[in-house]
Amino acid sequence: MIRLAKPWIGEDERRAVAAVLESGQLVQGELVERFELAVAALVGRRHAIAVSSGTAALQLALKVLQVAPGDEVLCPALSWPSPAHVVRMAGAKVQFVDVDADEWNSHEEAFRGARGANTKAAIVIDQFGNPARAAEIRDALGALPIIEDAACALGSRFAGGPCGSLGKVSCLSFHPRKILTTGEGGMCLTDDDDLADKMRMLRNHGQLGGEFVVAAGNFRMTEIAAALGLAQLQRLDEILARRRELAALYRDSLGELVGLQSTPPGAESNYQTFGVVLPQGRDRDAVREKLRERGIEAGLLSFAIHRLGSFTGSDASMPIAEHLAARGLAIPLYPQMRNGEAEEVAAALSGVLNG
Ligand SMILES: Cc1ncc(COP(=O)(O)O)c(C=O)c1O
Repeated sequence: MIRLAKPWIGEDERRAVAAVLESGQLVQGELVERFELAVAALVGRRHAIAVSSGTAALQLALKVLQVAPGDEVLCPALSWPSPAHVVRMAGAKVQFVDVDADEWNSHEEAFRGARGANTKAAIVIDQFGNPARAAEIRDALGALPIIEDAACALGSRFAGGPCGSLGKVSCLSFHPRKILTTGEGGMCLTDDDDLADKMRMLRNHGQLGGEFVVAAGNFRMTEIAAALGLAQLQRLDEILARRRELAALYRDSLGELVGLQSTPPGAESNYQTFGVVLPQGRDRDAVREKLRERGIEAGLLSFAIHRLGSFTGSDASMPIAEHLAARGLAIPLYPQMRNGEAEEVAAALSGVLNG
């Protein structure tokens, strides 16, 4: 079976994790701090705050931006549900924003159109590692705080700088399907000293200088996770180069057959997920099953979040997100994949669609 995704774990990762286990220092310590400094330098941000998942990073971002009941937060309608769920969990209303049919991210006009009197913040997603139109969105939203959901986008670049540099707070994920993995893990990035201090306090039971100043939970990253992350960072360039090569191979062989995600001018994707949108009239689930019979694991591309059970009762209509969610598949792409395997996937998909 050619798997959809597979983390690249080598001897360096095994050694690094074993050393932590022997040290006896298992939770947030020196390695977490080193990992934070390394990622902050990579993305060009003043502060990085490591946490236990990408979802936890989004929760902290909303908390320090004081999103509360009565507020609305703009959120693209096509994604993994986390960014919308955390808004709901903060007691605020999700104002869904439809995505662009080519780039599969929400554009500036859509954000502008969805904004209302109670809008407190906007979540901007670099979906599947494809950079959002950062400069245009920043211009369109003016002083409204942006939370950049860059969960998928480490190593991607906007026309003007690295993904992760857009948000008042930007959030990363290190889940095994992401560019680097720490098992579970996430990170908040910001240039704001005050927000950074608050996020550090909130991830650790609300402690500040030995005092418990607010009631807060535990969002810490383990030293085991940080050791993995530091080892993975050593191969980031190789991971990105290989993903881009495989994506180019897919683009060449599938571009005529299916819809593909396009990248804004001057930007560069990391191809965290390679999505294909099937032509009208094709039964997506049947295509997925036929690929499985040929030894290829394909996944659902993503979700129209307003249509999920967790948003029952939503009257939002987001036709492009609904179309992409209904017709999209994610096909295998991971750095250790051989060209021959990618060719096999492309040939199998062509065969199923033409057969
Ligand atoms: C766009 C997006 N945001 C947030 C998350 C949540 O990250 P995590 O799984 O680390 O909580 C994901 C995970 O798939 C994601 O794709």
